[in-house]
Amino acid sequence: MSTELSPADFAKCIAARRAVDFIEDGMRLGLGTGSTAAFMVRRLGERVREEGLKVTGVPTSSRTAALAREEGIPVVTLEEAGWLDLTIDGADEVDGDFQLIKGGGGAHLQEKIVASASDRMIVIADGAKDVARLGVFPLPVEVICFGWQTTQKLLSEALEGRGHAGAAITRRMAGETPFISDEGNFILDLHLGQIHDARALSLVLNQIPGVVENGLFIDLCDIVVLGHEDGLVRIR
Ligand code: 5RP
Repeated sequence: MSTELSPADFAKCIAARRAVDFIEDGMRLGLGTGSTAAFMVRRLGERVREEGLKVTGVPTSSRTAALAREEGIPVVTLEEAGWLDLTIDGADEVDGDFQLIKGGGGAHLQEKIVASASDRMIVIADGAKDVARLGVFPLPVEVICFGWQTTQKLLSEALEGRGHAGAAITRRMAGETPFISDEGNFILDLHLGQIHDARALSLVLNQIPGVVENGLFIDLCDIVVLGHEDGLVRIR
């Protein structure tokens, strides 16, 4: 397992594999997005094929949906599932209060909806994502394309009022063209450095016209599984 992986990917992989141990027969699962979540989906696929584990999965992106199908995991929509027992997903940062920044892969809108429709959320990550304070990772905000420059300006003003005057806001690109989310929207990345009150900031951002969803996950994560490059897995 470890031989072809970089140390960071090894850490992601062992966290993902450990989290799959929490999955029980019959569960309806939210399947996260990103490289760590992909390790989880592959391990789940192994369990489905080798143990005959019966689960259904609601993917949080078109990428995860394709991988889950490839792995032989039955995929359903959130509407079909109704409610989920467990969501397992990666994160870009996690703090000591289980607050997260997500959306590095541009999928935080579907990820937040799916996590909100789950009894429990397990976050899987390499140890480097464990931070004392959120904000070094640029905070993704999904915005509709119409009038996005106005939304960007309103975001700047809102940030100014919250002690982030002059914070850079960049539109995410995919090479030469703007990144487009699965829902057809742009992503603006907010370069904040540190976030003092994530809960308050999340509420402020989501009130701005044009903002669809921000990448702060508050009160959604229940368990964090962190993999380390030395092979240690820490659960809290
Ligand atoms: C996608 C996400 C990912 O979970 C997050 O970016 C972590 O990605 P990775 O596991 O590749 O480091 O939020 O929107």
